[in-house]
Amino acid sequence: MSEKATVIALSGKGGVGKTSLSAAIVRTLTEEKPDSRILAIDADPAVGLSVALGISVGETLDEVRQRVAAEVENGMSETQDILAEAKYHLFDAITEERGFAFLAIGRPEAAGCYCAINTYLRQVISLLADQFDYVVIDGEAGIEQINRRVMEKVTHLVLVSDQSRKGIEIIKTINKVSNELVMADKSGVVLNRVMHPDLVKESDLGGIPLLAVIEPDEALALNDIEGTSVLDMTSESKVLKGAREVLGNLGVI
Ligand SMILES: Nc1ncnc2c1ncn2[C@@H]1O[C@H](COP(=O)(O)OP(=O)(O)O)[C@@H](O)[C@H]1O
Ligand SMILES: [Mg+2]
Repeated sequence: MSEKATVIALSGKGGVGKTSLSAAIVRTLTEEKPDSRILAIDADPAVGLSVALGISVGETLDEVRQRVAAEVENGMSETQDILAEAKYHLFDAITEERGFAFLAIGRPEAAGCYCAINTYLRQVISLLADQFDYVVIDGEAGIEQINRRVMEKVTHLVLVSDQSRKGIEIIKTINKVSNELVMADKSGVVLNRVMHPDLVKESDLGGIPLLAVIEPDEALALNDIEGTSVLDMTSESKVLKGAREVLGNLGVI
């Protein structure tokens, strides 16, 4: 019997570094846990983790869902349960990369409401969690996926913010809701792109433990300009050091 998977999700306001840190966490896990099965999930319809990880995405989860739903509707499948059917197709959407697997939720066509895909994603995470040792989820900005229990299997919740009041208020709200809906074993805050380290102690994190403080990272900025992957960035990068600190403080490595 395999032990329970470690499911790490990153959540917070838009633009605070969730995707960069997710990629850095994936890379760190491949380095620290080379023999384990690692899955990276881009759960943000805005997409980005594939770029940070240097992956070209094939079929997305939403495309699999649509294809399976269409087959069931056309009577091509005997199966009543779309999810059961999807199990067979799910691995079409998973790309195997340098030491990890990758799955993207995609951009659901129906604008406005991601309900269907989020429900699907929740079930998929439950399904896949058993088949991997580590799952890293780059979440959508804001609280929707926490509210919709997409994150219910999450064991480690990483709340990412900059030093702004707004960013910190958002992670406090996410933490409050996740305390009721997520049941993570551990959660904590990462303050990213910190311009004023001396002022970190002034930030009221509402009692949530601080996992790491990451200052502006020149290596990441350079990476951005060149459009290269976090996998190819110098290991001296501040975000990579931050990722190691986060995983260490969460007791994952
Ligand atoms: N510590 C940092 N130093 C410099 N640039 C950063 C840092 N963290 C993130 N960035 C940059 O900020 C932008 C937004 O980061 P991203 O990871 O995409 O945020 P999110 O996924 O939360 O929207 C990206 O261009 C990223 O490279
Ligand atoms: Mg992002």
